[in-house]
Amino acid sequence: MRASKLLVAVAALAVTHALPLPDDDAVGVVWQFENTTWIENLAVRGNGEILCTSLSAGAIFMVNPFAHTVSPNGAACRDDAKTSQEVTVHQFEAGNGVLGIAEIENDVFIVVTSQINLATSVASPGSAAAWRVDMGAWTLGDDQPVTLIANLTDVGLPDGVVALSEPGAVLVADAAKGLIWKLDTISGKYDVIIQDDIFLSSSPQIPLGVDGLHIVDDYLYFTNLGDNILCRVSIDAAGNATDQIELVATMPAPDDFALAENGTAYVVGANQLYRVSAAGKVDVLAGGVNDTTLEGATSAQFGRTREDAGVLYIGTNGGLLVPTNGRLIGGQILAINVEAFV
Ligand SMILES: *[C@@H]1O[C@H](CO)[C@@H](O)[C@H](O)[C@H]1NC(C)=O
Ligand SMILES: *[C@@H]1O[C@H](CO)[C@@H](O)[C@H](O)[C@H]1NC(C)=O
Ligand SMILES: *[C@@H]1O[C@H](CO)[C@@H](O)[C@H](O)[C@H]1NC(C)=O
Ligand SMILES: *[C@@H]1O[C@H](CO)[C@@H](O)[C@H](O)[C@H]1NC(C)=O
Ligand SMILES: *[C@@H]1O[C@H](CO)[C@@H](O)[C@H](O)[C@H]1NC(C)=O
Repeated sequence: MRASKLLVAVAALAVTHALPLPDDDAVGVVWQFENTTWIENLAVRGNGEILCTSLSAGAIFMVNPFAHTVSPNGAACRDDAKTSQEVTVHQFEAGNGVLGIAEIENDVFIVVTSQINLATSVASPGSAAAWRVDMGAWTLGDDQPVTLIANLTDVGLPDGVVALSEPGAVLVADAAKGLIWKLDTISGKYDVIIQDDIFLSSSPQIPLGVDGLHIVDDYLYFTNLGDNILCRVSIDAAGNATDQIELVATMPAPDDFALAENGTAYVVGANQLYRVSAAGKVDVLAGGVNDTTLEGATSAQFGRTREDAGVLYIGTNGGLLVPTNGRLIGGQILAINVEAFV
């Protein structure tokens, strides 16, 4: 899977001054949070800063990848990066975990929260909520731009969130009930929009079904963590399914993912990064089941600036759920140049 030396060189040339881009197929560490910080999901702002939701800390953090030095092969940056540190965008009430995040309009994000037992992944019934986070209006220490949209009391465990083209509307994955909800973020009204057994986990060990949600070309792609599948279904602008659900590929424990415009999905799970072509071919680009490089990877998002367009940022829980070879570290933001792989 390694690109030829020539291709690596070309890719590296194209991005010479592109921090935080590793110029080969190495995995760089952009940031490491404190021990036992579970990073669950990522969203990249138009200015390049990475919003990181934390399941364990009940917070949204922000990391500026351009303020850090990438140290390939896992050297932690926390202590070296004196110039900058993570910023807490918002701290939710104790007991809440923050899960999915999606941009709904320029620099305005929707996040979902729930009270959840990290060891069992079981959410407290009725504890889910959706919030609007207006980063355009946000400044450090001012909570006004974070507002409750609705308490999602009928939702089991909210996980991935994705914006629809219909203004103000998002879809929310319910990993516990195995459903897709549609939430009107303006009125706070929410209803089941797609229901199918394929969203449920049939694994007694992993009671989490539908997880990540992303849309490209009117196809809603989703993972089912417990059932080891990536699927897609065509939807209309309102989010209704217009055809049968299709299986794209199977892979171990697929968590959240980034979806390129060409339909290639970059899925993380089981300490690995999978590249899934539009035709369903799966390649492991990095990590390994017993490898700590991508330990506890939960989510992935592409850089959005010219300088980091080919960079895939990966969020991790640092092994909090399943320590790899007994190793437990703080959650990380990793960076990998997907253009370095053919
Ligand atoms: C984090 O936890 C690991 C394993 O328990 C420990 O070795 C390490 O010293 C801790 N690091 C910090 C900064 O507390
Ligand atoms: C949402 O739930 C919280 C916590 O239970 C409660 O304090 C708040 O009043 C609720 N808000 C609405 C709008 O229902
Ligand atoms: C979308 O589906 C919902 C039920 O899930 C239905 O009430 C609604 O009429 C559908 N809308 C369209 C445009 O088909
Ligand atoms: C990972 O480690 C476990 C426990 O040592 C072992 O049973 C398993 O075969 C290993 N898997 C791989 C893919 O190396
Ligand atoms: C799809 O897009 C990704 C990200 O831009 C790119 O790295 C990859 O080469 C593309 N794949 C194909 C088959 O065009």
